[in-house]
Amino acid sequence: MPTTSSNPHLPFGENKQAEWYGKDIISVKQFSRNDLEYVFGVAHEMRGMVERVGTFDLLKGKILANLFYEPSTRTSSSFTAAMERLGGSVIPINEVKYSSVSKGESLPDTIRTLECYADVIVLRHPETGSAAIAAKAAKKPVINAGDGVGEHPTQALLDAFTIMEELGRLNTLTVTMLGDLKYGRTVHSLARLLSQFSNIRLNYVSPEILKMPKEVMDEVAEKGVPQAEFSSLENVLPETDVLYVTRVQKERFEDPADYEKVKSAYVIDPEVMKAAKKEMAVLHPLPRVTEISMDFDDDPRAAYFRQMEYGLYVRMALLAMVLGKA
Ligand code: CP
Repeated sequence: MPTTSSNPHLPFGENKQAEWYGKDIISVKQFSRNDLEYVFGVAHEMRGMVERVGTFDLLKGKILANLFYEPSTRTSSSFTAAMERLGGSVIPINEVKYSSVSKGESLPDTIRTLECYADVIVLRHPETGSAAIAAKAAKKPVINAGDGVGEHPTQALLDAFTIMEELGRLNTLTVTMLGDLKYGRTVHSLARLLSQFSNIRLNYVSPEILKMPKEVMDEVAEKGVPQAEFSSLENVLPETDVLYVTRVQKERFEDPADYEKVKSAYVIDPEVMKAAKKEMAVLHPLPRVTEISMDFDDDPRAAYFRQMEYGLYVRMALLAMVLGKA
């Protein structure tokens, strides 16, 4: 591991800072293992700073355009909080119907407009590939906050940071992904990201019509990571270190009858979790509907609310990195 910094949490120092300055964040495929360790080191620093001083002026004078064409609570508000905790400010566009998008303005034109006023753009859009299109149109950094059923790279980064903070390792893990693996962009990104680590085993548990896409499985297989598909959680839960639960996303189904058939396929509750290890973590990108019972929320293994908080620190780290201040 190269060491160019006296700070133990920033082992890659100035090289990584220069490498990420001005960059877009479109896919987890951009992150090498060293990059991931760097992000987590910076996020750890951010956590410490928030706990000590709350808000500080690392990005004072910088402006974020937060452009959301799809609903969001966590991603949108955590990017806003991240920018404001770093002393910057935010142009929030959460209701594109009140923007010139409703007059037919194209995505590239909207991006070119916002970069006249902002230093960085965060984009959520319903179409896969939209973040790459936006990045091509922009001279300023674009951060993908979810592009249709494609990727959600900042979510995967915060998921991995959560695993690190909760279990203390990203190697030697059995990770079971449960629910909507077809349309769930968070699991597409997380499976790709985890495939960089050693001794990882990925289990995919889903209804037949919501299986993990072959394209993602092929990419993970290229890294030599064992993967297995199941329709029931029963056989894999006892060996699971991380159970990553996802919502069956009603809004992604063309036929509502298909959604009705699978919407309640799995429910995690205290009874089900009796079969799981005592030391493991249950994650969920949220929002949840019925797939995790509220009765489980007080279990120490329920990490999904802490996971949201970790998202703030990871997004602070990413903003600082692309603006050259990490
Ligand atoms: N996890 C996540 O992307 O949540 P939001 O849709 O609320 O942003």
